[in-house]
Amino acid sequence: MRFSSIGERFSRPSGILRLMDDLGAAFAGDRRIIMLGGGNPSHIPAVQKLLRSRMERILATPGAFERMIGDYDGPRGNTAFISSLASMLRSACGWKITERNIALTGGSQNAFLFLFNMFAGHARRGRRRRILLPLAPEYIGYADVGLNHDIFTAHRPEIDCFGDRTFKYRIAFDSLRVGDDAGALCVSRPTNPTGNVVTDDEVRRLARIARDRGIPLIIDNAYGLPFPGIIFTGATPYYDDNTIVCMSLSKFGLPTARTGIVVASEKIIGVLSNMNAVGGLAPGGIGPALAHDLVRSGDILRISREIIRPYYQRKALHTLACFNEALDGLDYRIHKPEGALFLWLWFKGLPITNAELYERLKRRGVLVVPGHYFFPGVRGAWRHKHECIRISYSPDDAIVEKGARIIAQEAKKAYAHK
Ligand SMILES: Cc1ncc(COP(=O)(O)O)c(C=O)c1O
Repeated sequence: MRFSSIGERFSRPSGILRLMDDLGAAFAGDRRIIMLGGGNPSHIPAVQKLLRSRMERILATPGAFERMIGDYDGPRGNTAFISSLASMLRSACGWKITERNIALTGGSQNAFLFLFNMFAGHARRGRRRRILLPLAPEYIGYADVGLNHDIFTAHRPEIDCFGDRTFKYRIAFDSLRVGDDAGALCVSRPTNPTGNVVTDDEVRRLARIARDRGIPLIIDNAYGLPFPGIIFTGATPYYDDNTIVCMSLSKFGLPTARTGIVVASEKIIGVLSNMNAVGGLAPGGIGPALAHDLVRSGDILRISREIIRPYYQRKALHTLACFNEALDGLDYRIHKPEGALFLWLWFKGLPITNAELYERLKRRGVLVVPGHYFFPGVRGAWRHKHECIRISYSPDDAIVEKGARIIAQEAKKAYAHK
């Protein structure tokens, strides 16, 4: 058997594949794993109850279940759902869009595969284009989506440290160079893995830079506004006609429905729907069927605001307190938890790499994600990459508490045997 170069690439290990393997094994095995590694949203009882009742309504409505499972949508996705989304985003966020500015995808992960390859890789006249990530660290899931290799350039951040052992990454605009090879800018907001929320001012500056350079700004809004709304700072949702906003139903509580939502210019939506058609005929219809009423009524916004955001904010503060207590005495810092489901721990001067810490924790039954996977496109050696780990606070509090104690024990051992 001879693989193509793409086949070969996918036969090699990568960050996201290792993460998904560990996740799968953790859920499948007998051993009780303290799973702080995945990006799975919590099972929030009130949200799950609501989605269950939506499914019951579909089952009780003559023909609704049969249509949901039995009819392909067009390559842009379910038109009724898209039309309700467009109207909701116009009224809730003031975005100047119509249904022609929206396409659905098989999860937003699928949207990144399409969009990054739309704007990066080989281009006309032998040119190479890359996605510029203005703020590393960035989402692990971007790392391997390029069909050409080496499609990212990433920019190291400024680091602000605060007296309470927290820190925050900021975009280093003074040194940000947008080269001729840049095909698009992309930033996740909130950022996975750090929980950082790029400020409104930073977003506006990025949007200006992108427009001046004639390239789009991609905002990965998987955890953001207006839904699922897992943002604890005063951020505002952003869209203009040079921006591509990627959203998802996953972190609202529907990760298995694999429903991504892309808001962009009509031209980009046209190309994306062609890619949908070639790559999978049409996006799935189960997510739109389950979520349509919530979008039409605006309940998706209310639930995000009143249930989902407070739920994760409480968990963020609880997890922060657990780690501050467990890590007392060590030279650690924690990124300000401003949104999403993660704490980003920085062990300054850690005598072992975060990959070694990951292995030691795995042997103790605790899964985290070693931070070096979150720096796609960062060139050159940078010790910081090997000093951070990401933990998820979506599991039950008792699991997080136990995990924090074991992580602290292993970190203390590592520093002690310097
Ligand atoms: C920042 C970010 N973007 C995109 C995704 C993809 O999510 P989905 O494909 O489930 O919409 C994730 C998943 O964890 C994520 O964390």
